[in-house]
Amino acid sequence: MKLSTILFTACATLAAALPSPITPSEAAVLQKRVYTSTETSHIDQESYNFFEKYARLANIGYCVGPGTKIFKPFNCGLQCAHFPNVELIEEFHDPRLIFDVSGYLAVDHASKQIYLVIRGIHSLEDVISDIRIMQAPLTNFDLAANISSTATCDDCLVHNGFIQSYNNTYNQIGPKLDSVIEQYPDYQIAVTGHSLGGAAALLFGINLKVNGHDPLVVTLGQPIVGNAGFANWVDKLFFGQENPDVSKVSKDRKLYRITHRGDIVPQVPFWDGYQHCSGEVFIDWPLIHPPLSNVVMCQGQSNKQCSAGNTLLQQVNVIGNHLQYFVTEGVCGI
Ligand SMILES: *[C@@H]1O[C@H](CO)[C@@H](O)[C@H](O)[C@H]1NC(C)=O
Ligand SMILES: *[C@@H]1O[C@H](CO)[C@@H](O)[C@H](O)[C@H]1NC(C)=O
Repeated sequence: MKLSTILFTACATLAAALPSPITPSEAAVLQKRVYTSTETSHIDQESYNFFEKYARLANIGYCVGPGTKIFKPFNCGLQCAHFPNVELIEEFHDPRLIFDVSGYLAVDHASKQIYLVIRGIHSLEDVISDIRIMQAPLTNFDLAANISSTATCDDCLVHNGFIQSYNNTYNQIGPKLDSVIEQYPDYQIAVTGHSLGGAAALLFGINLKVNGHDPLVVTLGQPIVGNAGFANWVDKLFFGQENPDVSKVSKDRKLYRITHRGDIVPQVPFWDGYQHCSGEVFIDWPLIHPPLSNVVMCQGQSNKQCSAGNTLLQQVNVIGNHLQYFVTEGVCGI
């Protein structure tokens, strides 16, 4: 039986038993990480609605699984009802894989977008335990599927498990996505995902970008995908420069990394050598439906006013904090 499955059952007990899921030595590494900015800026209602939309799409990803599904054209309960013009193309799911990924591909005929939504494994304990126990090494990024050699980034290293998540996603849905892109050439491609699905979404977005597309990438509760070389390269790829100004939501901007107060997953892996790219959007509110003024844009790859400033105390409610992103993630349709 897969590790995740065993832990899933023990999940509630674990959460209750652990005052903090991170060890003192891991906390020391967190303290050491460089904090490149403390500047934040507020957003308007339109931007709020934009982020909420992707949180809903990510939530719907949790409808794809052994016990639940999305029904055609696009029905799954409350969340799907927000998308009356969406047509489900295909769900994908392969529970045999260790870095299990699943999700769906859909087309929105109102906004003229193609949605690729990648779902992480169900429980937070799974994510942390899998990442910690696998201790997957940082791997040369060029080993990711469909990354062209012209896009080489010599010092880019990426967590091997996340490359596998991405590879698994690519193998399941890549060719189908190509055919949908061909069918709707004027539609924007939007890639989104929560948790481990967010890591895969970032890598998938990079694949599309280096292959000549211009995807929008929105991740929620995404762990740190690679090293500093990778983070800087991604900044240049998506923002045109290192240390970009990411204080605004705009049509041209194509990368958003949404994090939540007290969610530790954006600080995983705990060990040295990992750095986020820019583009963080921080929900400074303990529950779902945050007030507008509690959602801020964060400058820098790491910002103490945002998720890098999460305290150990806030992280006590580990599961809730990882799931409360505008709407509840991890549970289908609500
Ligand atoms: C990902 O897939 C590509 C080809 O599909 C393969 O060459 C590469 O080794 C895979 N990477 C990992 C980390 O499994
Ligand atoms: C994979 O790479 C090829 C060659 O660059 C490209 O034509 C294709 O669109 C890519 N596939 C996906 C799913 O991005």
